[in-house]
Amino acid sequence: MDAQARIKQIQERQTPFYYYDMELLRRTLQQAGEAAGRYGYRIHYAVKANYDPRVVEAVREAGMGMDCVSGNEVRMAIESGFSAADVVFAGVGKSDREIEYSLQQGIFAFNCESLHELQVIHQIASRMGKKARVALRINPDVDPKTHRHISTGKADNKFGISYTEVDQAIATLSELSSLEIVGLHFHIGSQIRDLQVFEQLCTRVNTIKTWFAQQGVVLRHLNMGGGLGINYDDPQAELIPDFARYFEIFHQHLAVEEGQTVHFELGRSLVAQCGELITRVLYNKTTALGGKIVIVDTGMTDLIRPALYGAKHKIENLTSTEGSETYTIGGPVCESSDIFAREIELPVTSRGDLLTMRSAGAYGAAMASRYNMRDLPGAVYSDQL
Ligand code: LLP
Repeated sequence: MDAQARIKQIQERQTPFYYYDMELLRRTLQQAGEAAGRYGYRIHYAVKANYDPRVVEAVREAGMGMDCVSGNEVRMAIESGFSAADVVFAGVGKSDREIEYSLQQGIFAFNCESLHELQVIHQIASRMGKKARVALRINPDVDPKTHRHISTGKADNKFGISYTEVDQAIATLSELSSLEIVGLHFHIGSQIRDLQVFEQLCTRVNTIKTWFAQQGVVLRHLNMGGGLGINYDDPQAELIPDFARYFEIFHQHLAVEEGQTVHFELGRSLVAQCGELITRVLYNKTTALGGKIVIVDTGMTDLIRPALYGAKHKIENLTSTEGSETYTIGGPVCESSDIFAREIELPVTSRGDLLTMRSAGAYGAAMASRYNMRDLPGAVYSDQL
């Protein structure tokens, strides 16, 4: 279908909605899978990025596992046909019920974030007569050089077991008979564009894992987390992230022992570019200072990233090409931060025009809320137009 026909189809839909390019999604998953497969690496999709059933189905068809951060995500993975052996459960605040459920299902591993959590999982597992497979999430104190809200691997973050506590972790583990340590887990942050950061991560991991080996701990798996960033400024120039380069860095810099497997938890890089948020222009207005404001029918309840992180999603007008004006684009929600972009250039934009916010397939729909009792955004798939 050409671009014009697509817009015509879209125009008939009720806005706002997420539009997913299923062909791009499949190509992205395939390229990621191939690039990882070259070195025998395994990908667990970080489903927090987008739990749309069609997206999840495509991930399953691509043969990836699932990285979950809540009991509901674990349940959804299993109900969607993922084998429990392909599911990992991470997160700093796993509740007892979530742990029990995941133990019943026999998931691949818990990524454990504190010494206290190790104790609790042990207690629950021994009560259930089970053995829990755990990977220790170590906070390696590597600066991911990204937004502070999505930085997780620095010493003062709440995530992971501090590297200063690893000897205590080993002592604790030796006393907890219902736990089996299967590996180490690291995740230092998200939207990482400076790939050198991953080199630094590898160097730190090499030191940490050597230390564990010296203590006689056998590590069957290394989970290097996710974090690969995407091009928000110019999505068209980089529709599919450079997975080959990303995995090559780990191949070059991570020392992997015989029999050890390496896992990744990619979210954003797999799904961001295949999704966009389509909205309709409701009103034009002008501020006392002469600024032109366009009010659209989507708001921070549908895509919170600009309000929460100052994120920039490229905005394009799908239905007007004439002229050029400077606009601030705002939503209907009663919050001053409900602004998608300030003073951007667009063709002359007026009521009824369709705008698209690009690169919204990750952490878009998944973070939507019903604040102001707004409806949740819909979803339209390219192969169903
Ligand atoms: N593994 C763990 C333990 C994580 O915490 C995350 C993301 C991932 C993997 C996946 O990271 P990715 O490959 O997607 O970078 N809402 C924010 C992003 C939060 C990321 C949270 N953790 C945003 O919209 O930018």
